[in-house]
Amino acid sequence: MSLRDMSLVVLTTADPREKTALSRKFAQDWRTARLEGREIELGTAQPPDMPARPAQPELLPPRDVPQRKPGTPEGRIAMLHAIAHIELNAVDLHWDIIARFAQVEFPIGFYDDWVQAADDESKHFNLMADCLEARGSHYGALPAHAGMWKSAIETAHDIMGRLAVVPMVLEARGLDVTPGMIALFKQAKDQPAVDALDVIYAEEVAHVAYGSRWFHFLCGRENLDPTPTFHALVRRYFYGQLKPPFNEEKRAEAGIAPDFYWPLVEQQKP
Ligand SMILES: [Fe+2]
Ligand SMILES: [Fe+2]
Repeated sequence: MSLRDMSLVVLTTADPREKTALSRKFAQDWRTARLEGREIELGTAQPPDMPARPAQPELLPPRDVPQRKPGTPEGRIAMLHAIAHIELNAVDLHWDIIARFAQVEFPIGFYDDWVQAADDESKHFNLMADCLEARGSHYGALPAHAGMWKSAIETAHDIMGRLAVVPMVLEARGLDVTPGMIALFKQAKDQPAVDALDVIYAEEVAHVAYGSRWFHFLCGRENLDPTPTFHALVRRYFYGQLKPPFNEEKRAEAGIAPDFYWPLVEQQKP
């Protein structure tokens, strides 16, 4: 099986636990082959426009997803559910970037990085799904955000746009908001959720760094100035606004400099 065949299997598997189990197994196969110096062919693939997803959760426009108070147990379950949904989407996004841009040549490290990221997201989904099940709920019990795959569709023909929007805007945003969520579960004395979110928080920094690394690699190869290139791509493909406060420390750790994101904030720096 080529790496892109593996991507297709993950992307076309609807059941989330099955999807993440396959994703983790393929990542392990890839790592083992790389360690042993065996070659797994990259192959070619026609990834689906939309990845296969389970019948539940119901997907609603963001404004119709009910808001729940995070101070209540139900509110915290809703938060875990929302994170599980983001993680599942991230599994597909990372396999999609591997499958979709076969015409763009990359050093093998590009595939190492996104396979690792896909493996991490699969673990993250399982952590969140476990937390939900331990609280008498499950992934699929609540409606979820329908717009998650939008940035993948928008950037389906633009690898630099994909890197700018997915890891460098969306996943970087995760770094901004996760400490607040961890604090919330700490306050509720929910240690298992805190532990799970700590794992996610620690591992997400690398995904943003992968984005930054390969974005800068492409800029270097195309002789483009990274900062204005990034701004133009985000303005073109990302409809939301970048919202401070930013996690400057973790963003820096991931190789995202302040002049990448501050100029994209509508209101100027306070
Ligand atoms: Fe994640
Ligand atoms: Fe991630």
